Amino acid sequence: MSNTISMGKSHVPLIERYRDRLPFAEGDPIVSLQEGSTPLLRAPVLSEMVGATVRLKLEGANPTGSFKDRGMTCAVSAAVRDGAKAVICASTGNTAGSAAAYAARAGITCAVIVPEGKIAEGKMAQTLMHGARVISLAGNFDQALKLVRELVEKDPIVLVNSVNEFRIEGQKTAAFEIHEDLDGQLEALCIPVGNAGNITSYWRGFREMGAAPRLFGFQAEGASPLVRGEAFEHPETVASAIRIGHPVRGSDALVAVSESGGAIRAVSDHEILSAYRLLASKEGMFCEPASAASVAGLLKYGPDGAEQVVCVLTGRGIKDPQTAIEHNGGAVIPCEPDIGAIEEAVLG
Ligand code: F0G
Repeated sequence: MSNTISMGKSHVPLIERYRDRLPFAEGDPIVSLQEGSTPLLRAPVLSEMVGATVRLKLEGANPTGSFKDRGMTCAVSAAVRDGAKAVICASTGNTAGSAAAYAARAGITCAVIVPEGKIAEGKMAQTLMHGARVISLAGNFDQALKLVRELVEKDPIVLVNSVNEFRIEGQKTAAFEIHEDLDGQLEALCIPVGNAGNITSYWRGFREMGAAPRLFGFQAEGASPLVRGEAFEHPETVASAIRIGHPVRGSDALVAVSESGGAIRAVSDHEILSAYRLLASKEGMFCEPASAASVAGLLKYGPDGAEQVVCVLTGRGIKDPQTAIEHNGGAVIPCEPDIGAIEEAVLG
């Protein structure tokens, strides 16, 4: 078991690393940006706070800055193999950035539908840079997904949201990596839940490894349909990535938590932001707000008897600079260019 950080086989594209467990044959074209094999970082401050050994799975270390790349290498490779010329997704931002990058790499067209004004700036920037056609919908993510699902019934465009099985297949590899890095000793996994594809993927991955850690999924209170047992027509949360009211993988997620003896629980925006600041200021790890929901949940509900815990940090903090600048609790000190002023500014 590694003590601090495990780099894994970082030179190997994900599909090659796990080809025997993924639906690709030798010789299939692979669209890869060398995703996967992300670090598992020990979190000493969190461990002390909750009385368990806590590690962070750094999915922001993927090439586009989120876990989506694991699923996207598979979804786009399969699309290319099957002759597709275009892919499409609805997105709160990360799927868009990832789809756009892999489509660019593959030389195919990408369109993304995003909720107007509700995706973080870094995600919009990367999606545009990769040359995707960005459609800003006067509506929310759930409406966007419903519309793209209708569209792909009519037009020959491959849908790369997590309703696409290749996405789930690719994302299950994160569970393989954790299982391998911890020699099968993981007892509880804490993970943010939005559309519920990722928690579904992890459960598939652990089951394939013959493992059964308890899965604890966390939704933001204002977007917690799986906790309340009913869809949210107007989901709201500071964690824009998981601002989702009708999770398409909701029933799979409920099976995952019930089979694993876990639960899906809610955390408030306040709790998410506290965990977000704590991770950055005490563990040196800047993730995006949605990712901090996993840690907020662990801090709120405790490790539930588990000794070996992993929290999944799904995306990088720099994707959402605005939320960071609004909620960091610090201040920028203005200063004139002279030594006296500098000294005062530095020493306080
Ligand atoms: N964390 C981040 C950073 C995300 O971007 C998402 C989902 C999740 C967690 C939740 O994962 O949907 O599989 O339960 N983002 C999607 C998107 C919806 O469009 O980027 P999930």
